[in-house]
Amino acid sequence: MRVPRSRVEIAPSILAADFACLERGIRLAEGGGARLIHVDVMDGHFVPNLTIGVPVVASLRKATRLALETHLMIANPGDFIESFARAGADRIYVHQEATPHLDRVLHQIQEAGAEPAVAVNPATPVGTLGEVLDLVGAVLVMTVNPGFGGQKFIPHSLDKIRELVAFRERYNRNFGIAVDGGVGPENVGEIVRAGAEILIAGTSVFHTPDASAAVRQLRERGEEALALKV
Ligand code: DX5
Ligand code: ZN
Repeated sequence: MRVPRSRVEIAPSILAADFACLERGIRLAEGGGARLIHVDVMDGHFVPNLTIGVPVVASLRKATRLALETHLMIANPGDFIESFARAGADRIYVHQEATPHLDRVLHQIQEAGAEPAVAVNPATPVGTLGEVLDLVGAVLVMTVNPGFGGQKFIPHSLDKIRELVAFRERYNRNFGIAVDGGVGPENVGEIVRAGAEILIAGTSVFHTPDASAAVRQLRERGEEALALKV
């Protein structure tokens, strides 16, 4: 499946949904008009937390027609690419810091039929990605240290988004720019104005009384912020 792409694409992160009722979380995201679901995979090595793996992605695939993006926060990501692609991941993010063979792993994703994408931790400069920008459909700027939901957005991440926008223009590339961590109604405007399109949000969607309304509100705020931009 092709991953949808518009100027403001909200990707609810099911890490913040109730793990006993993931299907309900998906329905709430669908109700808010989300076209993309973000799935966080953690292994207790690359990040100090454990979450979900291939079988859960396969079950989510059966439960929805929305695009699924998996965010692999795992060591040796190359060992799991085929499994996640077969399970139904449409886009696969691997961390630049998790493999010395980023180019090879991105090609593996492409060959497995998913969209290759790369993520960078807060301390990693986006300038290190220059050699792979023609390979990826999206670059994810981590706006918190990966491993947990509910953390605070790191403000200097906005400069990394602007730098990626400049790269994209200078080299005439077409990758999407994603942000993940601490994204909510209070900062979505400055994030989209900086140039990001894929807004990954967990707490600000699922830890609210009405997750569908939260998705809609994020998208509307983002679109309004762009409309005001002159
Ligand atoms: C954190 C994950 C995020 C997380 C974001 O390592 O990659 O996707 O779900 O959660 P919030 O939106 O709560 O910061
Ligand atoms: Zn994530």
